[in-house]
Amino acid sequence: MRMYDLIMKKRNGGVLTKEEIEFMIHDYTNGKIPDYQMSAMMMAVYFRGMNKEETVNLTMSMARSGDMLDLSAIEGIKVDKHSTGGVGDKTSLVLTPMLAALGLPVAKMSGRGLGHTGGTIDKLESFPGFSVSLTETQFIENVNRIKIAIMGQTADLAPADKKLYALRDVTATVDNLSLIASSIMSKKLAAGADAIVLDVKTGSGAFMKTEEDALALAKTMVEIGTSAGRKMTAIVSDMDQPLGFAVGNALEVKEAIETLKGRGSEDLKNLCKKLGAGLLVSIGRSASMEEAEDILQKTIDDGSALAKLAEFVHAQGGEEAAVYHTDLLPQASLVEEIPSGQSGYIRHIDTEEVGIVSLILGGGRETKESEIDLSVGLVLRKKVGDYVNAGESLAVIHANDPEKLRQAKERFCTTYHFSEEPVERPAFIKAVIT
Ligand code: URA
Repeated sequence: MRMYDLIMKKRNGGVLTKEEIEFMIHDYTNGKIPDYQMSAMMMAVYFRGMNKEETVNLTMSMARSGDMLDLSAIEGIKVDKHSTGGVGDKTSLVLTPMLAALGLPVAKMSGRGLGHTGGTIDKLESFPGFSVSLTETQFIENVNRIKIAIMGQTADLAPADKKLYALRDVTATVDNLSLIASSIMSKKLAAGADAIVLDVKTGSGAFMKTEEDALALAKTMVEIGTSAGRKMTAIVSDMDQPLGFAVGNALEVKEAIETLKGRGSEDLKNLCKKLGAGLLVSIGRSASMEEAEDILQKTIDDGSALAKLAEFVHAQGGEEAAVYHTDLLPQASLVEEIPSGQSGYIRHIDTEEVGIVSLILGGGRETKESEIDLSVGLVLRKKVGDYVNAGESLAVIHANDPEKLRQAKERFCTTYHFSEEPVERPAFIKAVIT
């Protein structure tokens, strides 16, 4: 088999066979196929697309390109959750302790933030001492003992995706449905959970800017997971404004804790309950979404989810007292309110820009190697549909460096858009796919 022939086949609109896809992924992972040929293939796929069978085959080849985690030593139906990424997205911090408090084994691998989006692994490191580098044995042992462990993705998990994603990132071939779906699902399948819930974001802070594209991506990923024998659910949710109010690592941890105390943002709480309910229904633990949401709400009301978070933080070496005393989390030295320049209803918040403001403050990475400042970020005071008077605060910025604070304030000024007429609050959950 020759890569040249496969590129030509796809360029001319042909359908790649399972064997051809396996050959291509195998030889690309071990360095026999050079980047320039794979770039040409990715561009051919970008324009010609892949059918369902090709997408499933690509996903499975990438999932098998490295270690497939064996979670059979964990008792029960193992659950996992994945978000396609957004701004202020702290769902994992809220949802995973809720699930573990119900006795569901949560075995989760998470990523770090890149660009304007955050990552769960960075956020968890806001707990002083918290370790995300567990051995496979510790990971399994923790899930069996306390029902929850979250670790950073190991280098051997879906290495084909690691190489391909880096290539797509620099060859303008990221935003293709089959390529995104196979990239995400290869990692999820290799991570070994039996039931997976996906949070597919749509809007100005998301990868999929339109609801139609987000829905198509969600459906494709559910199909891939189902054909690999996993129980799948996907929620399409709004990322046309940040989720909740806080953006920035320790600030988001604080908001997640508030939510587990029953005081956080309603949108965040409702999304977590929907995602969790999707899982509970998919594994047959609840008969309906409504019943499952009530069960999940009880873990907040009775304090069991908060207690589980503390137990989880302690088990991974972190300062569990910070769960109850959030002033033990990293704190920024400069805290400044940003007044609105005008009166009106908030019509739109440029969400990607809000993420970039946090990045400028030091809360995100410009490159994979950048060090981040866990304490900085911003907390919004107003969301879409709210009315604001000129001079009233739109947000509070947390910074450590006066120059970065100045730049962040300047950038923040363009993120809010106003209307004189009342603005309807957007529907937050767009679709549930089972
Ligand atoms: N996230 C991934 O892991 N892969 C993609 O292709 C896009 C988002």
